[in-house]
Amino acid sequence: MSAPNSSYDPVAPSALDEAAVRAATETAEAAIAAAADLEQLKAVRIEHAGDRSPLALANREIGSLAPAARAEAGKRVGAARGRVKQALASRQHELEKERDERVLLEETVDVTMDYDRDPVGGRHPLTTIQERMADIFVSMGYDVVDGPEVESEWHNFDALNLGPDHPARSMQDTFFVESPDSGVVLRTHTSPVQIRTMLTQQPPIHMVAPGRVFRTDELDATHTPVFSQIEGLAVDRGITMAHLKGTLDHFAEQLFGEGLVTRLRPSYFPFTEPSAELDLQCFVCRGSSVGDPDHPCRTCSSEGWIEWGGCGMVNPRVLRACGIDPDEYSGFAFGMGLERTLMFRHGITDMRDMVEGDVRFTVPFGLEL
Ligand code: PHE
Repeated sequence: MSAPNSSYDPVAPSALDEAAVRAATETAEAAIAAAADLEQLKAVRIEHAGDRSPLALANREIGSLAPAARAEAGKRVGAARGRVKQALASRQHELEKERDERVLLEETVDVTMDYDRDPVGGRHPLTTIQERMADIFVSMGYDVVDGPEVESEWHNFDALNLGPDHPARSMQDTFFVESPDSGVVLRTHTSPVQIRTMLTQQPPIHMVAPGRVFRTDELDATHTPVFSQIEGLAVDRGITMAHLKGTLDHFAEQLFGEGLVTRLRPSYFPFTEPSAELDLQCFVCRGSSVGDPDHPCRTCSSEGWIEWGGCGMVNPRVLRACGIDPDEYSGFAFGMGLERTLMFRHGITDMRDMVEGDVRFTVPFGLEL
């Protein structure tokens, strides 16, 4: 028990008289105004508005007053506590504002300051996807081969069953090196690497050729005169379209995710017979967006499939042009665009980003090796 309070008067406690309440209020207000920061204000709050503050104690005394005196004392103490509470809130607000301004000033970042680390840069995503694709084929026993970008017309067209007057020749608007009759072009596709390989190797042949190709397209969001493809070729005894389909499905799964398949649609290429357009099942919606307007898919435009490339069984005329007997051997070939693959794989909407060489584009792809 605490010691008896000698001046305690249960009828008119001194803590409740007007002068005492006013004094407590003024002391509190002065302390609040003097609080220089939020930390100090916290201490002031405990001292002048906490459970043991003079006004809280005064408030507690009200119950011991004669009923007639309670209302007036209650009003006085209530008003005083209200003022103190109000003063605390507005000082709190002021100090928070001051703190925020100070933090903004103190934490300013000087973007012109020298950077003390060497930027690591980024590998171009075309390089990394090319390596990734090639690795998948290497794991299936394929060789990765290279061919020249400046190519003879014979390798680029004639040997691929596109003679001088072949209508399909205009499908590929060609850059001629020197004059149009020089016979030297910038390759319009990676298919001449098939020819070079078959001319120098005997079956069985399993090869992929990633590389740069050229067509006289204007540079815009969906075209670039310089782009990249990856070509694949398998030639052996008994190669069928089933091998092609199985290989492409495996490739799609490795690159885009388990269970993904490809679809072949009849098409025409002079160097393959039969020929097919190659579609990839949409790796985002896997077809679920088809006919479901409530859940559209941006990756495949709710088609369920994404156009990916071309493929087919190597035309016997091509085998023969390379000295391979089509009665003994057969083969499949395919080719797809790398920029296109990157575009749908990463949601890139403008092809120019891939050719402009701005590191701000490449860095987010990281340093994947
Ligand atoms: N070379 C074709 C193109 O550039 C693609 C392709 C390659 C088609 C191999 C069939 C076989 O469009």
